[in-house]
Amino acid sequence: MGTPSVYIKDRQKVEKILTAMRQTGPSAVQVISDFDMTLTRFAYNGKRCPTCHNILDNSKLISEDCKAELADLLKTYYPIEIDSTRPVEEKLPLMVEWWTKAHHILVQQRIRKDLLAVVVQESDAMLRDGYQLFFNHLQEHDVPLLIFSAGIGDILEEVIRQAGVFHPNVKVFSNYMEFNDTGVLQGFKGELIHVYNKHEGALLNSSHFQELKQRHNVLLLGDSLGDLSMADGVPDLENILKIGYLNDKVEERRESYLSSYDIVLEKDETMDVPNAILLHIT
Ligand code: TMP
Ligand code: MG
Repeated sequence: MGTPSVYIKDRQKVEKILTAMRQTGPSAVQVISDFDMTLTRFAYNGKRCPTCHNILDNSKLISEDCKAELADLLKTYYPIEIDSTRPVEEKLPLMVEWWTKAHHILVQQRIRKDLLAVVVQESDAMLRDGYQLFFNHLQEHDVPLLIFSAGIGDILEEVIRQAGVFHPNVKVFSNYMEFNDTGVLQGFKGELIHVYNKHEGALLNSSHFQELKQRHNVLLLGDSLGDLSMADGVPDLENILKIGYLNDKVEERRESYLSSYDIVLEKDETMDVPNAILLHIT
Protein backbone atom coordinates (compact mmCIF):
# COMPACT_ATOMS: atom_id res chain seq x y z
CA MET A 1 0.00 0.00 0.00
CA GLY A 2 2.96 2.36 0.40
CA THR A 3 3.72 4.92 3.04
CA PRO A 4 1.12 7.49 4.05
CA SER A 5 1.90 11.04 2.93
CA VAL A 6 0.88 14.44 4.21
CA TYR A 7 0.82 17.30 1.72
CA ILE A 8 0.51 20.94 2.68
CA LYS A 9 0.53 23.67 0.07
CA ASP A 10 0.80 26.65 2.37
CA ARG A 11 2.54 25.71 5.58
CA GLN A 12 2.50 29.22 6.98
CA LYS A 13 -1.24 29.49 6.58
CA VAL A 14 -1.75 26.16 8.39
CA GLU A 15 0.55 27.23 11.23
CA LYS A 16 -1.28 30.53 11.57
CA ILE A 17 -4.67 28.83 11.77
CA LEU A 18 -3.41 26.29 14.30
CA THR A 19 -1.91 29.00 16.50
CA ALA A 20 -5.15 30.97 16.44
CA MET A 21 -7.22 27.87 17.24
CA ARG A 22 -4.93 26.83 20.05
CA GLN A 23 -5.14 30.28 21.61
CA THR A 24 -8.93 30.27 21.86
CA GLY A 25 -9.08 26.61 22.87
CA PRO A 26 -11.78 23.93 22.81
CA SER A 27 -14.73 26.17 23.71
CA ALA A 28 -14.49 27.92 20.34
CA VAL A 29 -14.05 24.80 18.22
CA GLN A 30 -16.50 22.63 16.30
CA VAL A 31 -15.66 19.70 14.07
CA ILE A 32 -17.57 19.10 10.86
CA SER A 33 -16.87 15.81 9.17
CA ASP A 34 -17.99 13.76 6.24
CA PHE A 35 -18.61 10.08 7.00
CA ASP A 36 -17.96 7.62 4.16
CA MET A 37 -14.28 7.30 3.29
CA THR A 38 -13.44 10.09 5.76
CA LEU A 39 -14.32 8.62 9.16
CA THR A 40 -14.48 5.15 7.64
CA ARG A 41 -11.58 3.43 5.93
CA PHE A 42 -11.22 3.45 2.16
CA ALA A 43 -9.44 0.10 2.10
CA TYR A 44 -8.24 -2.65 4.37
CA ASN A 45 -5.64 -5.23 3.32
CA GLY A 46 -5.91 -4.01 -0.25
CA LYS A 47 -9.68 -4.46 -0.37
CA ARG A 48 -12.14 -1.59 -0.64
CA CYS A 49 -14.27 -0.91 2.41
CA PRO A 50 -18.01 -0.26 2.06
CA THR A 51 -19.87 3.05 2.15
CA CYS A 52 -23.19 3.22 4.05
CA HIS A 53 -24.97 2.38 0.83
CA ASN A 54 -22.59 -0.50 0.08
CA ILE A 55 -23.24 -1.98 3.54
CA LEU A 56 -26.86 -2.43 2.53
CA ASP A 57 -26.13 -3.28 -1.11
CA ASN A 58 -23.89 -6.18 -0.12
CA SER A 59 -26.20 -7.47 2.59
CA LYS A 60 -28.58 -10.41 2.77
CA LEU A 61 -31.48 -7.94 2.71
CA ILE A 62 -31.02 -7.31 -1.01
CA SER A 63 -31.99 -9.77 -3.75
CA GLU A 64 -29.35 -10.91 -6.24
CA ASP A 65 -31.05 -9.02 -9.09
CA CYS A 66 -31.07 -5.78 -7.16
CA LYS A 67 -27.47 -6.31 -6.08
CA ALA A 68 -26.52 -6.46 -9.74
CA GLU A 69 -28.50 -3.30 -10.50
CA LEU A 70 -26.89 -1.42 -7.60
CA ALA A 71 -23.45 -2.61 -8.68
CA ASP A 72 -24.16 -1.32 -12.20
CA LEU A 73 -25.12 2.05 -10.80
CA LEU A 74 -21.90 2.20 -8.81
CA LYS A 75 -19.90 1.28 -11.89
CA THR A 76 -21.61 4.01 -13.89
CA TYR A 77 -21.76 6.87 -11.44
CA TYR A 78 -18.79 6.53 -9.08
CA PRO A 79 -16.27 7.31 -11.87
CA ILE A 80 -18.33 10.44 -12.61
CA GLU A 81 -18.29 11.45 -8.93
CA ILE A 82 -14.49 11.42 -8.81
CA ASP A 83 -13.83 12.65 -12.36
CA SER A 84 -11.66 15.76 -12.01
CA THR A 85 -12.12 16.73 -15.65
CA ARG A 86 -15.85 17.42 -15.34
CA PRO A 87 -17.24 20.54 -13.67
CA VAL A 88 -19.45 20.10 -10.62
CA GLU A 89 -22.45 21.66 -12.41
CA GLU A 90 -22.30 18.86 -14.92
CA LYS A 91 -21.96 16.16 -12.27
CA LEU A 92 -24.67 17.46 -10.00
CA PRO A 93 -27.75 16.23 -11.89
CA LEU A 94 -26.01 12.89 -12.44
CA MET A 95 -25.44 12.50 -8.71
CA VAL A 96 -29.13 13.22 -8.04
CA GLU A 97 -29.89 10.54 -10.63
CA TRP A 98 -27.59 8.03 -8.88
CA TRP A 99 -29.02 8.60 -5.41
CA THR A 100 -32.61 8.61 -6.68
CA LYS A 101 -32.18 5.35 -8.58
CA ALA A 102 -30.34 3.65 -5.71
CA HIS A 103 -32.93 4.70 -3.14
CA HIS A 104 -35.72 3.55 -5.41
CA ILE A 105 -34.15 0.09 -5.63
CA LEU A 106 -33.61 -0.08 -1.87
CA VAL A 107 -37.24 0.78 -1.20
CA GLN A 108 -38.37 -2.09 -3.46
CA GLN A 109 -36.54 -4.50 -1.17
CA ARG A 110 -38.89 -4.00 1.77
CA ILE A 111 -35.96 -3.62 4.14
CA ARG A 112 -36.82 -4.15 7.79
CA LYS A 113 -35.65 -1.62 10.36
CA ASP A 114 -34.94 -4.29 12.96
CA LEU A 115 -32.42 -5.97 10.68
CA LEU A 116 -30.20 -2.94 10.09
CA ALA A 117 -28.10 -3.56 13.18
CA VAL A 118 -27.42 -7.15 12.09
CA VAL A 119 -26.46 -6.05 8.60
CA VAL A 120 -23.97 -3.51 9.96
CA GLN A 121 -22.58 -6.12 12.34
CA GLU A 122 -22.02 -8.52 9.46
CA SER A 123 -20.47 -5.91 7.16
CA ASP A 124 -16.84 -4.99 6.52
CA ALA A 125 -17.40 -1.39 7.60
CA MET A 126 -14.44 -0.04 9.54
CA LEU A 127 -13.77 3.32 11.10
CA ARG A 128 -10.26 4.62 10.53
CA ASP A 129 -7.56 3.57 12.99
CA GLY A 130 -7.46 5.97 15.91
CA TYR A 131 -11.21 6.63 15.81
CA GLN A 132 -11.54 5.98 19.55
CA LEU A 133 -9.16 8.79 20.42
CA PHE A 134 -10.90 11.08 17.95
CA PHE A 135 -14.46 10.53 19.21
CA ASN A 136 -13.55 10.21 22.88
CA HIS A 137 -11.33 13.27 22.93
CA LEU A 138 -14.03 15.43 21.37
CA GLN A 139 -16.58 14.16 23.89
CA GLU A 140 -14.24 14.71 26.84
CA HIS A 141 -13.54 18.29 25.76
CA ASP A 142 -17.18 19.08 24.96
CA VAL A 143 -16.40 19.78 21.33
CA PRO A 144 -19.42 19.22 19.07
CA LEU A 145 -18.93 16.86 16.15
CA LEU A 146 -21.25 17.26 13.22
CA ILE A 147 -21.25 14.34 10.82
CA PHE A 148 -22.60 15.56 7.50
CA SER A 149 -23.15 12.61 5.20
CA ALA A 150 -24.68 11.84 1.85
CA GLY A 151 -24.80 8.23 3.03
CA ILE A 152 -27.65 6.73 5.05
CA GLY A 153 -28.18 8.14 8.55
CA ASP A 154 -29.64 4.96 10.04
CA ILE A 155 -26.65 2.90 8.88
CA LEU A 156 -24.07 5.49 9.83
CA GLU A 157 -25.49 5.79 13.36
CA GLU A 158 -25.40 2.04 13.72
CA VAL A 159 -21.72 1.92 12.67
CA ILE A 160 -20.68 4.44 15.31
CA ARG A 161 -23.03 2.98 17.92
CA GLN A 162 -21.55 -0.49 17.47
CA ALA A 163 -18.06 1.02 17.69
CA GLY A 164 -19.09 2.48 21.05
CA VAL A 165 -18.47 6.10 20.06
CA PHE A 166 -21.93 7.54 19.44
CA HIS A 167 -21.49 10.09 22.23
CA PRO A 168 -23.96 12.89 23.05
CA ASN A 169 -21.75 15.52 21.36
CA VAL A 170 -22.28 13.84 17.97
CA LYS A 171 -24.94 15.24 15.68
CA VAL A 172 -25.74 13.64 12.34
CA PHE A 173 -27.13 15.19 9.15
CA SER A 174 -27.80 12.59 6.54
CA ASN A 175 -30.42 10.76 4.52
CA TYR A 176 -32.69 9.00 6.99
CA MET A 177 -34.96 6.11 6.14
CA GLU A 178 -38.69 6.31 6.56
CA PHE A 179 -40.41 3.16 7.80
CA ASN A 180 -44.09 2.26 7.82
CA ASP A 181 -46.02 1.06 10.88
CA THR A 182 -44.70 -2.45 10.52
CA GLY A 183 -41.07 -1.29 10.32
CA VAL A 184 -40.60 -1.73 6.57
CA LEU A 185 -38.66 0.83 4.49
CA GLN A 186 -40.98 2.95 2.41
CA GLY A 187 -38.83 5.93 1.46
CA PHE A 188 -36.34 8.50 2.65
CA LYS A 189 -37.10 11.54 4.78
CA GLY A 190 -36.58 15.17 3.81
CA GLU A 191 -34.44 16.61 1.09
CA LEU A 192 -31.89 14.38 -0.54
CA ILE A 193 -28.27 14.95 0.44
CA HIS A 194 -25.79 13.88 -2.22
CA VAL A 195 -22.04 14.55 -2.54
CA TYR A 196 -22.39 17.93 -4.24
CA ASN A 197 -25.18 19.68 -2.34
CA LYS A 198 -23.72 19.78 1.14
CA HIS A 199 -23.97 23.59 1.15
CA GLU A 200 -27.71 23.84 0.74
CA GLY A 201 -30.96 22.50 2.11
CA ALA A 202 -30.78 20.43 5.26
CA LEU A 203 -28.23 22.31 7.28
CA LEU A 204 -28.99 25.88 6.41
CA ASN A 205 -32.60 25.38 7.39
CA SER A 206 -31.70 23.77 10.66
CA SER A 207 -30.98 25.43 13.98
CA HIS A 208 -27.73 23.51 14.32
CA PHE A 209 -25.29 26.27 13.46
CA GLN A 210 -27.29 28.80 15.45
CA GLU A 211 -26.86 26.66 18.55
CA LEU A 212 -23.11 26.71 18.00
CA LYS A 213 -22.87 30.45 17.38
CA GLN A 214 -19.96 30.97 19.74
CA ARG A 215 -17.83 28.33 18.03
CA HIS A 216 -15.97 30.31 15.40
CA ASN A 217 -13.24 27.80 14.68
CA VAL A 218 -13.93 24.84 12.46
CA LEU A 219 -11.97 21.72 11.79
CA LEU A 220 -13.38 20.25 8.60
CA LEU A 221 -12.70 16.68 7.46
CA GLY A 222 -13.67 15.32 4.07
CA ASP A 223 -12.67 13.11 1.19
CA SER A 224 -14.59 14.69 -1.65
CA LEU A 225 -14.37 18.20 -3.09
CA GLY A 226 -18.08 18.41 -2.33
CA ASP A 227 -17.24 18.18 1.38
CA LEU A 228 -15.51 21.56 1.25
CA SER A 229 -18.82 23.39 1.47
CA MET A 230 -20.03 21.60 4.62
CA ALA A 231 -19.21 24.63 6.82
CA ASP A 232 -20.87 27.16 4.52
CA GLY A 233 -23.65 27.97 6.98
CA VAL A 234 -21.42 28.61 10.01
CA PRO A 235 -22.07 32.17 11.26
CA ASP A 236 -19.08 34.44 12.02
CA LEU A 237 -16.54 31.86 11.00
CA GLU A 238 -13.06 32.94 12.08
CA ASN A 239 -10.72 30.07 11.34
CA ILE A 240 -11.24 26.96 9.33
CA LEU A 241 -8.74 24.18 8.80
CA LYS A 242 -9.67 21.74 6.06
CA ILE A 243 -8.22 18.25 6.05
CA GLY A 244 -8.86 16.09 3.01
CA TYR A 245 -8.34 12.38 2.50
CA LEU A 246 -7.33 11.82 -1.11
CA ASN A 247 -8.23 8.17 -1.44
CA ASP A 248 -8.59 7.47 -5.12
CA LYS A 249 -7.26 8.79 -8.47
CA VAL A 250 -4.49 10.30 -6.42
CA GLU A 251 -2.14 11.60 -9.11
CA GLU A 252 -4.90 13.17 -11.19
CA ARG A 253 -6.57 14.90 -8.31
CA ARG A 254 -3.64 15.95 -6.10
CA GLU A 255 -3.41 19.47 -7.52
CA SER A 256 -7.09 20.23 -7.09
CA TYR A 257 -7.08 18.81 -3.56
CA LEU A 258 -3.99 20.82 -2.67
CA SER A 259 -5.57 24.04 -3.84
CA SER A 260 -8.72 23.54 -1.79
CA TYR A 261 -7.75 21.47 1.27
CA ASP A 262 -5.17 22.89 3.69
CA ILE A 263 -3.83 19.44 4.49
CA VAL A 264 -4.09 16.51 2.08
CA LEU A 265 -3.64 12.94 3.29
CA GLU A 266 -2.75 10.13 0.92
CA LYS A 267 -2.61 6.39 1.57
CA ASP A 268 -3.53 7.17 5.13
CA GLU A 269 -6.13 4.89 6.71
CA THR A 270 -5.78 6.50 10.13
CA MET A 271 -7.09 9.46 12.11
CA ASP A 272 -3.53 10.25 13.24
CA VAL A 273 -3.25 13.67 11.63
CA PRO A 274 -6.69 14.96 12.73
CA ASN A 275 -5.96 13.53 16.19
CA ALA A 276 -2.59 15.28 16.45
CA ILE A 277 -4.28 18.55 15.48
CA LEU A 278 -7.08 18.04 17.99
CA LEU A 279 -4.62 17.35 20.78
CA HIS A 280 -2.76 20.51 19.82
CA ILE A 281 -5.74 22.87 19.71
CA THR A 282 -7.92 21.52 22.53
P1 TMP B 1 -20.52 10.60 2.29
O1 TMP B 1 -21.09 11.95 2.03
O2 TMP B 1 -20.76 10.15 3.71
O3 TMP B 1 -19.11 10.46 1.89
O4 TMP B 1 -21.38 9.53 1.40
C1 TMP B 1 -21.44 9.54 0.03
C2 TMP B 1 -20.79 8.37 -0.65
O5 TMP B 1 -21.74 7.30 -0.88
C3 TMP B 1 -20.29 8.77 -2.01
O6 TMP B 1 -18.89 8.67 -2.09
C4 TMP B 1 -20.94 7.80 -2.97
C5 TMP B 1 -21.43 6.69 -2.11
N1 TMP B 1 -22.61 5.96 -2.67
C6 TMP B 1 -22.52 4.58 -2.79
O7 TMP B 1 -21.48 3.99 -2.47
N2 TMP B 1 -23.60 3.89 -3.28
C7 TMP B 1 -24.77 4.50 -3.64
O8 TMP B 1 -25.72 3.84 -4.06
C8 TMP B 1 -24.85 5.93 -3.52
C9 TMP B 1 -26.10 6.64 -3.91
C10 TMP B 1 -23.74 6.61 -3.01
MG1 MG C 1 -17.10 10.74 1.70
